Amino acid sequence: MKNVPLSEARAVFARPERIVWAVAEHGGRRSICPLGWKMNTSITPPMMAISVAPARFTHDLIAGSGEFVLAWPGEDLAEATYVCGTRSGRDMDKFAQMKLTALPAQVVKAPLIAECAANLECRVAGRLTSGDHTIFVGEIVAAWVHESPGRLLCSIGRESGYEFLLQKGGYRFGVIRA
Ligand SMILES: Cc1cc2nc3c(=O)[nH]c(=O)nc-3n(C[C@H](O)[C@H](O)[C@H](O)COP(=O)(O)O)c2cc1C
Repeated sequence: MKNVPLSEARAVFARPERIVWAVAEHGGRRSICPLGWKMNTSITPPMMAISVAPARFTHDLIAGSGEFVLAWPGEDLAEATYVCGTRSGRDMDKFAQMKLTALPAQVVKAPLIAECAANLECRVAGRLTSGDHTIFVGEIVAAWVHESPGRLLCSIGRESGYEFLLQKGGYRFGVIRA
Protein backbone atom coordinates (compact mmCIF):
# COMPACT_ATOMS: atom_id res chain seq x y z
CA MET A 1 0.00 0.00 0.00
CA LYS A 2 1.17 3.51 -0.73
CA ASN A 3 -0.26 6.64 0.78
CA VAL A 4 -1.83 8.77 -2.01
CA PRO A 5 -4.08 11.80 -2.48
CA LEU A 6 -7.77 10.82 -2.38
CA SER A 7 -8.21 11.68 -6.08
CA GLU A 8 -5.63 9.01 -6.97
CA ALA A 9 -7.40 6.41 -4.82
CA ARG A 10 -10.79 7.36 -6.31
CA ALA A 11 -9.41 6.76 -9.80
CA VAL A 12 -8.96 3.11 -8.73
CA PHE A 13 -12.43 2.41 -7.33
CA ALA A 14 -14.96 5.09 -8.33
CA ARG A 15 -15.97 3.74 -11.77
CA PRO A 16 -18.01 2.05 -13.13
CA GLU A 17 -21.06 3.42 -11.39
CA ARG A 18 -24.66 2.71 -12.37
CA ILE A 19 -26.66 5.89 -12.94
CA VAL A 20 -30.13 6.60 -11.60
CA TRP A 21 -32.36 9.62 -12.20
CA ALA A 22 -34.07 11.25 -9.21
CA VAL A 23 -37.36 12.65 -10.50
CA ALA A 24 -39.28 15.08 -8.30
CA GLU A 25 -42.23 17.43 -8.52
CA HIS A 26 -43.45 20.20 -6.23
CA GLY A 27 -45.59 23.30 -6.64
CA GLY A 28 -46.25 22.58 -10.31
CA ARG A 29 -42.52 22.30 -11.15
CA ARG A 30 -40.58 19.14 -11.85
CA SER A 31 -37.09 18.03 -12.74
CA ILE A 32 -34.82 15.08 -13.43
CA CYS A 33 -31.46 14.84 -11.64
CA PRO A 34 -29.06 12.08 -12.76
CA LEU A 35 -27.16 10.64 -9.79
CA GLY A 36 -24.24 8.35 -9.29
CA TRP A 37 -24.46 8.38 -5.51
CA LYS A 38 -27.14 5.96 -4.31
CA MET A 39 -27.40 2.80 -2.21
CA ASN A 40 -29.81 0.18 -0.88
CA THR A 41 -30.34 0.75 2.84
CA SER A 42 -33.12 -1.61 3.97
CA ILE A 43 -34.89 -4.79 2.85
CA THR A 44 -37.99 -4.51 5.09
CA PRO A 45 -39.29 -1.97 4.50
CA PRO A 46 -37.47 -1.57 1.18
CA MET A 47 -35.40 1.61 1.21
CA MET A 48 -32.78 3.38 -0.91
CA ALA A 49 -30.73 6.47 -0.14
CA ILE A 50 -29.54 9.14 -2.56
CA SER A 51 -27.01 11.93 -2.04
CA VAL A 52 -28.07 15.24 -3.59
CA ALA A 53 -26.30 18.60 -3.43
CA PRO A 54 -28.49 21.43 -2.07
CA ALA A 55 -27.75 23.51 -5.20
CA ARG A 56 -29.75 21.06 -7.33
CA PHE A 57 -33.29 22.19 -8.18
CA THR A 58 -34.34 18.58 -7.56
CA HIS A 59 -33.08 18.92 -3.97
CA ASP A 60 -35.68 21.66 -3.36
CA LEU A 61 -38.40 19.63 -5.03
CA ILE A 62 -37.66 16.54 -2.92
CA ALA A 63 -37.38 18.59 0.28
CA GLY A 64 -40.68 20.35 -0.52
CA SER A 65 -42.71 17.33 -1.57
CA GLY A 66 -41.18 14.61 0.63
CA GLU A 67 -41.22 12.27 -2.37
CA PHE A 68 -39.22 11.23 -5.40
CA VAL A 69 -39.07 8.62 -8.12
CA LEU A 70 -35.89 6.71 -8.94
CA ALA A 71 -35.88 6.07 -12.70
CA TRP A 72 -33.18 3.76 -14.12
CA PRO A 73 -32.03 4.86 -17.59
CA GLY A 74 -30.99 2.37 -20.25
CA GLU A 75 -28.41 2.59 -23.03
CA ASP A 76 -30.59 4.81 -25.23
CA LEU A 77 -30.60 7.55 -22.57
CA ALA A 78 -26.90 8.47 -22.43
CA GLU A 79 -27.40 11.83 -24.18
CA ALA A 80 -30.47 12.63 -22.03
CA THR A 81 -28.44 11.75 -18.92
CA TYR A 82 -25.69 14.11 -20.00
CA VAL A 83 -28.10 16.99 -20.69
CA CYS A 84 -30.23 16.44 -17.58
CA GLY A 85 -27.06 16.07 -15.52
CA THR A 86 -25.42 19.28 -16.69
CA ARG A 87 -28.39 21.67 -16.86
CA SER A 88 -30.91 22.66 -14.23
CA GLY A 89 -34.66 22.19 -14.28
CA ARG A 90 -34.85 25.73 -12.97
CA ASP A 91 -34.07 26.92 -16.51
CA MET A 92 -35.53 24.23 -18.76
CA ASP A 93 -38.27 21.65 -19.04
CA LYS A 94 -36.15 18.49 -19.26
CA PHE A 95 -39.15 16.35 -20.16
CA ALA A 96 -40.03 18.46 -23.21
CA GLN A 97 -36.44 19.11 -24.28
CA MET A 98 -35.38 15.44 -24.11
CA LYS A 99 -38.75 14.11 -25.36
CA LEU A 100 -39.32 12.04 -22.23
CA THR A 101 -42.75 10.67 -21.39
CA ALA A 102 -44.07 11.33 -17.88
CA LEU A 103 -46.47 8.67 -16.63
CA PRO A 104 -48.62 9.05 -13.52
CA ALA A 105 -47.25 7.18 -10.50
CA GLN A 106 -49.47 5.18 -8.18
CA VAL A 107 -48.57 6.64 -4.78
CA VAL A 108 -46.36 9.71 -5.23
CA LYS A 109 -46.94 12.91 -7.20
CA ALA A 110 -43.65 12.79 -9.10
CA PRO A 111 -44.01 11.07 -12.47
CA LEU A 112 -42.53 7.81 -13.71
CA ILE A 113 -40.50 7.98 -16.92
CA ALA A 114 -41.83 5.67 -19.61
CA GLU A 115 -38.48 5.37 -21.44
CA CYS A 116 -36.60 4.13 -18.34
CA ALA A 117 -35.93 0.46 -17.59
CA ALA A 118 -37.46 0.63 -14.10
CA ASN A 119 -39.08 3.21 -11.82
CA LEU A 120 -39.30 3.17 -8.01
CA GLU A 121 -41.74 5.42 -6.16
CA CYS A 122 -40.17 6.67 -2.91
CA ARG A 123 -41.40 8.55 0.14
CA VAL A 124 -38.73 10.39 2.13
CA ALA A 125 -38.26 8.50 5.41
CA GLY A 126 -35.10 10.21 6.59
CA ARG A 127 -32.69 13.02 5.80
CA LEU A 128 -29.10 13.64 6.80
CA THR A 129 -26.66 16.41 5.95
CA SER A 130 -23.43 14.83 4.73
CA GLY A 131 -20.90 17.61 4.19
CA ASP A 132 -21.90 19.40 1.01
CA HIS A 133 -24.68 16.93 0.09
CA THR A 134 -27.99 15.83 1.62
CA ILE A 135 -28.75 12.14 1.96
CA PHE A 136 -32.44 11.47 1.38
CA VAL A 137 -33.55 8.01 2.48
CA GLY A 138 -36.58 6.90 0.51
CA GLU A 139 -39.00 4.13 1.40
CA ILE A 140 -39.93 2.38 -1.83
CA VAL A 141 -43.73 2.30 -2.00
CA ALA A 142 -44.22 1.04 -5.56
CA ALA A 143 -42.00 -0.48 -8.27
CA TRP A 144 -42.35 -0.63 -12.04
CA VAL A 145 -40.39 -2.23 -14.87
CA HIS A 146 -40.36 -1.62 -18.62
CA GLU A 147 -41.65 -4.44 -20.88
CA SER A 148 -38.13 -4.68 -22.36
CA PRO A 149 -35.73 -3.07 -19.86
CA GLY A 150 -32.52 -3.55 -21.89
CA ARG A 151 -29.05 -2.75 -20.55
CA LEU A 152 -28.68 -0.17 -17.79
CA LEU A 153 -26.56 2.94 -18.22
CA CYS A 154 -23.29 3.31 -16.31
CA SER A 155 -20.80 6.07 -15.82
CA ILE A 156 -17.58 4.35 -16.85
CA GLY A 157 -13.83 4.85 -16.88
CA ARG A 158 -11.39 2.93 -19.07
CA GLU A 159 -11.99 -0.55 -17.61
CA SER A 160 -12.66 -3.53 -19.87
CA GLY A 161 -16.00 -5.31 -19.96
CA TYR A 162 -17.97 -2.19 -20.82
CA GLU A 163 -19.28 -1.03 -24.17
CA PHE A 164 -18.53 2.65 -24.61
CA LEU A 165 -21.50 4.83 -25.64
CA LEU A 166 -20.77 8.54 -25.19
CA GLN A 167 -18.12 10.91 -23.88
CA LYS A 168 -19.02 14.52 -23.15
CA GLY A 169 -17.88 17.18 -20.72
CA GLY A 170 -15.72 14.87 -18.61
CA TYR A 171 -18.39 12.17 -18.41
CA ARG A 172 -18.09 8.76 -20.09
CA PHE A 173 -21.14 6.55 -20.42
CA GLY A 174 -21.37 2.86 -21.27
CA VAL A 175 -23.14 -0.41 -20.58
CA ILE A 176 -21.96 -3.85 -19.51
CA ARG A 177 -20.82 -5.69 -22.64
CA ALA A 178 -23.39 -8.27 -23.80
C1 LIG B 1 -23.22 11.00 -14.42
C2 LIG B 1 -23.66 12.06 -13.44
C3 LIG B 1 -23.74 11.75 -12.09
C4 LIG B 1 -24.16 12.73 -11.16
N1 LIG B 1 -24.25 12.39 -9.84
C5 LIG B 1 -24.72 13.30 -8.94
C6 LIG B 1 -24.92 12.94 -7.56
O1 LIG B 1 -24.72 11.79 -7.14
N2 LIG B 1 -25.39 13.90 -6.72
C7 LIG B 1 -25.68 15.16 -7.12
O2 LIG B 1 -26.10 15.99 -6.31
N3 LIG B 1 -25.50 15.53 -8.43
C8 LIG B 1 -25.05 14.63 -9.33
N4 LIG B 1 -24.91 14.98 -10.66
C9 LIG B 1 -25.19 16.36 -11.07
C10 LIG B 1 -26.68 16.65 -11.31
O3 LIG B 1 -27.29 15.64 -12.08
C11 LIG B 1 -26.80 18.01 -12.05
O4 LIG B 1 -26.29 19.04 -11.25
C12 LIG B 1 -28.20 18.34 -12.56
O5 LIG B 1 -28.07 19.29 -13.60
C13 LIG B 1 -29.13 18.89 -11.48
O6 LIG B 1 -30.35 19.21 -12.08
P1 LIG B 1 -31.49 20.05 -11.32
O7 LIG B 1 -30.89 21.39 -10.94
O8 LIG B 1 -32.60 20.19 -12.31
O9 LIG B 1 -31.87 19.24 -10.12
C14 LIG B 1 -24.50 14.03 -11.60
C15 LIG B 1 -24.44 14.33 -12.98
C16 LIG B 1 -24.03 13.36 -13.90
C17 LIG B 1 -23.99 13.69 -15.37
